[in-house]
Amino acid sequence: MAMIYGFQIVVLLPFFLSIITINGVLQPKYFDVTKYGAVADGKTDNTRAFLATWKDACAYPGRSRFWIPRATFLLGSISFEGPCNGSMTFLIKGTLKAPTDPSKFFTDSWIGFRYLENLVVKGGGFLDGQGSSAWKYNDCQKNSQCKSLPATMRFDFVQNSKVHHLRSINSKNSHFNLFACYNMNISFVRLSAPADSPNTDGIHIGTSSKITISRAIIGTGDDCISMVSGSQDIDIHDVVCGPGHGISVGSLGRSHSHEHVMGIKVRNCSFINTDNGLRIKTWSPSLYSVASDIYFQNIFMRNVRNPVVIDQQYCPFPSGCAVQSTSAVQIKDVTFDNIWGTSSTKVALNLQCSGVLPCKNVKLININLAYHGPGGPATSTCSHVIGSSYGKQIPGGCL
Ligand SMILES: *[C@@H]1O[C@H](CO)[C@@H](O)[C@H](O)[C@H]1NC(C)=O
Ligand SMILES: *[C@@H]1O[C@H](CO)[C@@H](O)[C@H](O)[C@H]1NC(C)=O
Ligand SMILES: *[C@@H]1O[C@H](CO)[C@@H](O)[C@H](O)[C@H]1NC(C)=O
Repeated sequence: MAMIYGFQIVVLLPFFLSIITINGVLQPKYFDVTKYGAVADGKTDNTRAFLATWKDACAYPGRSRFWIPRATFLLGSISFEGPCNGSMTFLIKGTLKAPTDPSKFFTDSWIGFRYLENLVVKGGGFLDGQGSSAWKYNDCQKNSQCKSLPATMRFDFVQNSKVHHLRSINSKNSHFNLFACYNMNISFVRLSAPADSPNTDGIHIGTSSKITISRAIIGTGDDCISMVSGSQDIDIHDVVCGPGHGISVGSLGRSHSHEHVMGIKVRNCSFINTDNGLRIKTWSPSLYSVASDIYFQNIFMRNVRNPVVIDQQYCPFPSGCAVQSTSAVQIKDVTFDNIWGTSSTKVALNLQCSGVLPCKNVKLININLAYHGPGGPATSTCSHVIGSSYGKQIPGGCL
């Protein structure tokens, strides 16, 4: 009997598999943009062809593969919206080029993904934001009402998804922007823009939780990674940052009250020739919120201007802000553990907390930051900080 059952399974299994395959449950189905009229000449605007491809790919009830072959496609501002009927893998093999026509600049993103689950974006391709055509239109340093330029790729309300093996160059604004996302992993990405390009954050995260960023190389004109209001349970490791403004929590407290930032881990990262290393910044004055449970561990700095900084007097406007040192953002439970390397300025460790809500439970463990320039060695300056220190402390004297 056993032999007969075995025989039946062997004979019948391929039969069942073929049925499943015919119904498209196992076999992925490819939706190639060139079959929908996309032209890979780098000049034709392919927005309509990409949307038509998306419409069919998203309606397909099985495993969809949105396929961008190895060629160069000009693509206007586009939003890929779900929910879809099956799972979606968005494969970028080629290069996507953003518009350089100023009349198309002022959208919130170039490539948007919204209301999606089980999305995978990968393929080894390039996203070329063509930012040099647009940076001169950014007047946000001078104008607080400035119109913002588009992020290269935006994810809004995306869950249980992955982005990996992609390169983004010369974004007009942030490279990647995450809003209201849950459980997303970003890895093996390379993001670059010139050190003097305005607001080109690498990855900007807000109102999102359970996000992992690992094995990324980010060199850009603003923060390599920034986490603003509502960022929770964010795990960053094996990231190389430089040039750029470091990995930042904040700025907090400008417009979102009670959207707390908590559960941030930054581990095994390097900062090379950056303006800042590890930074927490809040506006002053500010709305009330909490930034807590923030852990920095095993961080190497080479020639970083402000390696470790808490700045609760953040005011980027040249005209200044009303009252200083009155931020209502409570910063607490912050650990800097095993931070070493070189500072390019004398003050290697600078913790300036709020005069009304001092930082609480700040731990400094094995800090070794050298400064080799004139007026050395390195020093630290701290105010309104409550905490403790353990192990080596170079520079010392803070806690
Ligand atoms: C999902 O499938 C249904 C039924 O086939 C169809 O009516 C609907 O438009 C599809 N959804 C999307 C997002 O395409
Ligand atoms: C992301 O990575 C974490 C940790 O490795 C894992 O638990 C989680 O399931 C991953 N999420 C996705 C969507 O792949
Ligand atoms: C960081 O590096 C250490 C030492 O190489 C390793 O033991 C640890 O698992 C790494 N942590 C992460 C989160 O990758």
